[in-house]
Amino acid sequence: MNDTLILAIESSCDETAASVVKNGREVLSNVISSQIELHTLYGGVVPEIASRKHIEKINQVIEQALSDAGCTLDDLSAIGVTYGPGLVGALLVGVAEAKAIAYAKKLPLVGVHHIEGHVSANYIENPDLEPPFLCLIVSGGHTHLVIVKDYGEFEILGRTRDDAAGEAFDKVARAIGLGYPGGPKVDRLAKEGNPEAIVFPKGKLGDNPYDFSFSGVKSAVLNYLNHAQMTGEEINRADLAASFQKSVVDVLVEHTMLAAQDYGMKKIAIAGGVASNGALRSAMEQACREHGYRFYRPSPILCTDNAAMIGCAAYYEYRKGTRHGWDLNAIPNLRLGER
Ligand code: KG4
Ligand code: ZN
Repeated sequence: MNDTLILAIESSCDETAASVVKNGREVLSNVISSQIELHTLYGGVVPEIASRKHIEKINQVIEQALSDAGCTLDDLSAIGVTYGPGLVGALLVGVAEAKAIAYAKKLPLVGVHHIEGHVSANYIENPDLEPPFLCLIVSGGHTHLVIVKDYGEFEILGRTRDDAAGEAFDKVARAIGLGYPGGPKVDRLAKEGNPEAIVFPKGKLGDNPYDFSFSGVKSAVLNYLNHAQMTGEEINRADLAASFQKSVVDVLVEHTMLAAQDYGMKKIAIAGGVASNGALRSAMEQACREHGYRFYRPSPILCTDNAAMIGCAAYYEYRKGTRHGWDLNAIPNLRLGER
């Protein structure tokens, strides 16, 4: 059988990324040009600046991905590209680029859902992982607990009712003066703090026990800071970061374990930027060990935005026969499971 080589492009937010993936799980190259330093100046991602940076970098990133993989456009079987969800102007750069290459080289075009990409990151380093499994998806824009029924097929058990987990990390980081990007900074600072120092509320359970809510804990952190400021009390930022992080991680792990038990799932995976969080990784690993579940998590570099995960997802879509036409457009609010 001939090898399937997919060039994948990802530009949904603030990373311009390209990767060549062989037969779905072998990453031949994974190039990521991060705009973090640029957006740090503004305390967050500025959409128009992100689009402008993507258009400036994308050809160089693709050239590098091809050269690292030791191949040319002539060796490719298909082009995969994230077409949603994300920032519309940022997505359009990747989509237009993918279309241009596919058109010029007469290659199939496969549009990929960004979150399906995050989930697929788990396949790359775990050759034995196959659906079905339970996956907790925690990124800057999404918090979903899903059963991955088959490649690209999801049953959504729970989702956040307000902020996404990553969003909560980013907002709390800003409030305690850590700046952007918040998640990794809270993660680092929390290592020096006591997670038991302050008890923050856990997100209330509504009628769906698998749903999440992070606005309560975020408000509790803001109230704690205001109170300290008014009374002139000195705050220990490391304790604050560690205690906030613990309340988020506890809820993520509890809901995942509950769903695993209720649905009889024995394989648990995590995905998305927050899946690179040290406390979440170790808490989930420990809970899985205690319950006798197999735990899967991508390396941190494959948790945050990258194109290798898009190449992996594109391969399984390609095998299923998914092909997009020249009318493929960016869909900023594309829902999981939608095509
Ligand atoms: O998946 P991702 O790279 O982009 C989206 O698709 O949203 O996720 C980015 C989010 C940001 O909110 C960022 O603060 C968070 O993931 N994040 C983390 C860590 N690394 C990234 N949150 C907690 N701990 C981390 N180590
Ligand atoms: Zn992402």
